[in-house]
Amino acid sequence: LNYRVPRTRKAAFEILIKGLQRLEYRGYDSAGIAVDEDNEKDHKNGGYICLFRSKGKVKALADEIYKQTFLNFDKVFEVHFGIAHTRWATHGIPNEVNSHPQRSDKNNEFVVVHNGIITNYKDLRKCLESKGFEFESETDTEVIPKLTKYMYDNRESEDVRFSTLVERVIQQLEGAFAVVFKSLHFPCEAVAARRGSPLLIGVCSKCKLSTDQIPILYQTYKNINNGCTSKTHQTETEHFKCLHPTGEEKAIEFYFASDASAIIEHTKKVIFLEDDDIAAVANGCLSIHRIERSVGDIKSRAIHTLQMELHQIMKGNFSTFMQKEIFEQPESIVNTLRGRVNIETSTVILGGLKDHLKDIKRCRRLLLIGCGTSYHSAVATRQVLEELTELPVMVELASDFLDRSTPVFRDDVCFFISQSGETADTLMALQYCKGHGALTIGITNTVGSSISRETNCGIHLNAGPEIGVASTKAYTSQFVSLIMFGLLMSQDRISMKQRRKEIINGLQTLPNLIKEVLALDNNIQLLAQELFQHKSLLVMGRGYHYATCLEGALKIKEITYMHSEGILAGELKHGPLALIDERMPIIMIAMRDPCYIKCQNAVQQIVARQGRPIILCAKNDEEMRKFAYQTIEIPQSVDCLQGILTVIPLQLLSFHLAVLRGYDVDCPRNLAKSVTVE
Ligand code: G6P
Repeated sequence: LNYRVPRTRKAAFEILIKGLQRLEYRGYDSAGIAVDEDNEKDHKNGGYICLFRSKGKVKALADEIYKQTFLNFDKVFEVHFGIAHTRWATHGIPNEVNSHPQRSDKNNEFVVVHNGIITNYKDLRKCLESKGFEFESETDTEVIPKLTKYMYDNRESEDVRFSTLVERVIQQLEGAFAVVFKSLHFPCEAVAARRGSPLLIGVCSKCKLSTDQIPILYQTYKNINNGCTSKTHQTETEHFKCLHPTGEEKAIEFYFASDASAIIEHTKKVIFLEDDDIAAVANGCLSIHRIERSVGDIKSRAIHTLQMELHQIMKGNFSTFMQKEIFEQPESIVNTLRGRVNIETSTVILGGLKDHLKDIKRCRRLLLIGCGTSYHSAVATRQVLEELTELPVMVELASDFLDRSTPVFRDDVCFFISQSGETADTLMALQYCKGHGALTIGITNTVGSSISRETNCGIHLNAGPEIGVASTKAYTSQFVSLIMFGLLMSQDRISMKQRRKEIINGLQTLPNLIKEVLALDNNIQLLAQELFQHKSLLVMGRGYHYATCLEGALKIKEITYMHSEGILAGELKHGPLALIDERMPIIMIAMRDPCYIKCQNAVQQIVARQGRPIILCAKNDEEMRKFAYQTIEIPQSVDCLQGILTVIPLQLLSFHLAVLRGYDVDCPRNLAKSVTVE
């Protein structure tokens, strides 16, 4: 929303459309935008809200909008306010009516964009239907604008505030949401709220800020009549203002977004909202309020300056984000290690854990919890963590961990591994462990994310924004972060001195070894040409490489839509062997580590059934060359770090397979980067 900053309507649309495109990786099955038809006219003077929605990518929506000549794109307005959304369907198929903004009625009196899920929407819908509301979509979201209209139509006083209305609405909602509201009745105002889904506010970068802390306003009780309590907020003067460099309170711009990448080209100054915060912009002022003050509440929200750079969220010379991110790994690993590992003294410093280190060291068990790729990083490092910490280590898929109501104790240390820091299942597992008094550690790649804020302490990946839905560089950075944790925990153990030194040296050489693996790209592309028409692809290995099998198979499933399975080679004879014949493509990972001989046996069993294994092995491994249909030969690292190198050929392979099969690598069907619903 901009306030007294003259802009053409086209410029305002461009901000919204570009913002949506930057967020497309979060969901991309349909999109929509709502803007005022004419900001100078309010509801009473014939103004109305224009709503555009369409199925498919944001580009389809943009093409549709730019055809609408009635919008007077070149007309300059002083105030612009629009809301926009790109959807990943949960309730209702992707189509126009199910897209957001959802609306209260045919006049678009209230329009809402929503990220999350409203779990009690059926009850609310039934209730609103009984009041005469007619629903047009199958979404859970539609109850929000309709409930807002109902509350507005039945307001106690004429001058109800928009933020008060929203506050009442969200009190009725169960589930998770980040919402932004716009209304005909409140022109030039926006109200946003969150519970469980991320939401931040960008504050215009050109403005001189009157403060770097925004005070939180709490309800104060006013006149209690006949048992009715009416509440009011503290004074307007506590509202936050942006000042123009000239000192005038004039040029003001605010951006609400669920992810910083949508707004980074406009501002780096952001405020992260907390659950149950309600943020309102009216007359160019921002205010944040909460319904109840609870003990220990922080009294303000800080304005943070993001470190993210625009080029980090652009593709550069690469055709897709995924390819860019795969090739970024030599640098992203360096960034994860930076300032944390000292090769001379063989020590590790993790600043984010230091205040809790004593308690962490006292724990009896480690639990590593995540979903998808993040879970695989836990599987990948479990063995070395057991070795270095001498503690039992459990690895858990967040959803299953919750389904089992797994016992958790006060002397457990629980890790929540999540690239986005917003995955609903992982976040719920975090709440569960907090409830059981465990110490919680976040491993995330997103500063200000829910998991990074809600955990006691954490390790930030510093891998830079990851946009491709299929996670690549975040995985290798998670891997390295967990190894650094193991090294930290074993710092005082004399008996581990040698082993620690070996791993620390290994970490330093990793970036160059990754470059060597990336140089195999052309060979892997040729291999993809042989494989891309197959229906299925098996990936087999054991020990340190079981995680690579799971992760490689997941990459292949996610973006090529081929069936793929990661198989523990130790289980081969207990079932998967039945799948083997001369046509079934199979990749076997057999590095020179303690499982090498066992892998050799598995290879022989495959060859004996006419299988033709493609073997991922160490450089110049003559033994494996004998049995292999083909080899992919990679440099050798320390056993527990080798998984970082074995996963890269599979990342590249899945990428090339998807390209050859003609699929959209960055936006695979039915998937989203950040799954903020259960
Ligand atoms: C989604 C993504 C996966 C990701 C998983 C966990 O399913 O498509 O790529 O691994 O969520 O995400 P997180 O952000 O918690 O690591």
